[in-house]
Amino acid sequence: MDIVQRTPMPEPWAEGEKIPWNEPGFSARMLAEHLSQEHDAASRRTERIEQHVRWIHEQVLRGQPSRVLDLGCGPGLYSQRLAALGHACVGIDFGPASIAYARRQAAASQSDCTYIEGDIRAVDYGPDGSYDLAMLIYGELNVFRRAEALSILQKARQSLKPGGRLLLEPHTFEAVQEEGQRPSTWYTSEAGLFSERPHLALYEAFWHAEQAVTIHRYSIVDAETSVVTRYASSMQAYNEEGYRRLLADAGFEGVTFYPSLWGEPDPSQSALVAIVTQT
Ligand SMILES: C[S@@+](CC[C@H](N)C(=O)[O-])C[C@H]1O[C@@H](n2cnc3c(N)ncnc32)[C@H](O)[C@@H]1O
Repeated sequence: MDIVQRTPMPEPWAEGEKIPWNEPGFSARMLAEHLSQEHDAASRRTERIEQHVRWIHEQVLRGQPSRVLDLGCGPGLYSQRLAALGHACVGIDFGPASIAYARRQAAASQSDCTYIEGDIRAVDYGPDGSYDLAMLIYGELNVFRRAEALSILQKARQSLKPGGRLLLEPHTFEAVQEEGQRPSTWYTSEAGLFSERPHLALYEAFWHAEQAVTIHRYSIVDAETSVVTRYASSMQAYNEEGYRRLLADAGFEGVTFYPSLWGEPDPSQSALVAIVTQT
C-alpha cells in the first residue's frame, strides 16, 4: 500500500532532500562507486579527473600556487591532485566514508589538504577572504533549492579573496528536464547502493514544468520483509540567464561559460557546463 498510495506527482523536495550521501552505510557503499573505474556515476574516472585538474590548474588558477575550497569534495579526488600541483586545499563533504578516505589519502601523501565533515549549507568555510578559488562541481549545485544554492554561493563569495574565483559545473536546463521525463524503471539486487540486503528498487522521475524542477523517487522494497524505504531528490533547472541571475544575486561579476571542465566540448559530459566567475 506504501507504493500503491504514493503521491502521483510529488512536489519538489517534499519527499526528501537528496539521496542519503551522509548516512554511514550508504556513504561506505557510495565510496566504492566514487572510486570505481567502471563508470562515471558518483565521481568520474581518473583519466577525466586528471584532464579537469590540468585545466583548473592551468586556466583557472593560471599555474599560481593557490588556496582552494572544494565544496562537496567527495573522497578528495580533485583536491588531492590539486595539492600535488602545489595548491593548498580545504574540502568539505557530509559523506563520512568519503571524508575518512580523503583524510587517509592526504596523510599518506603528506599533502596540503584539510577535510571537514559537514553540510555545506551549515558549516563555516573558514576565515573570510582566505581562498583564491571555491569550486562546486559534478552537477551538485542543481540538487539544492534555489534559496540554498544562493546561500552557498554567498558564503563561497565571502570566503574568497578580492578577485578570487568561483568554479561551478552545473547541469544544463535541457539535461535536467530530460532526466525528469525519463520512463520509470526497476531492478533487483542482492546487495547494492540503496541496501546491503536483497531488494527491489523502483525508480520514477517527474518534470515539474511550472517550477522547472525534476524530482527523482526511489522506492526500495526489502525482499525479505517487504518494508519500503523511499528516497527522493530534486534538481532545479536553470538556463544561462538563470545562472547569471543566481550568480549576480550572490554578488559575483563577469560570468564565463565553458562547454566542459576542460574547456572543450565533451560529448560524454554534455549534460554539464562549466562556469567561472569572480568576486
Ligand atoms: C556527485 S558527488 C561529486 C564528488 C566530487 N566533487 C567529485 O566530483 O569527485 C557530490 C558530492 O556532494 C556531496 N554533498 C551533497 N550535498 C552535500 C551537502 N549538503 N553538504 C556537503 N556535501 C554534500 C556528496 O556527499 C558527494 O560527495
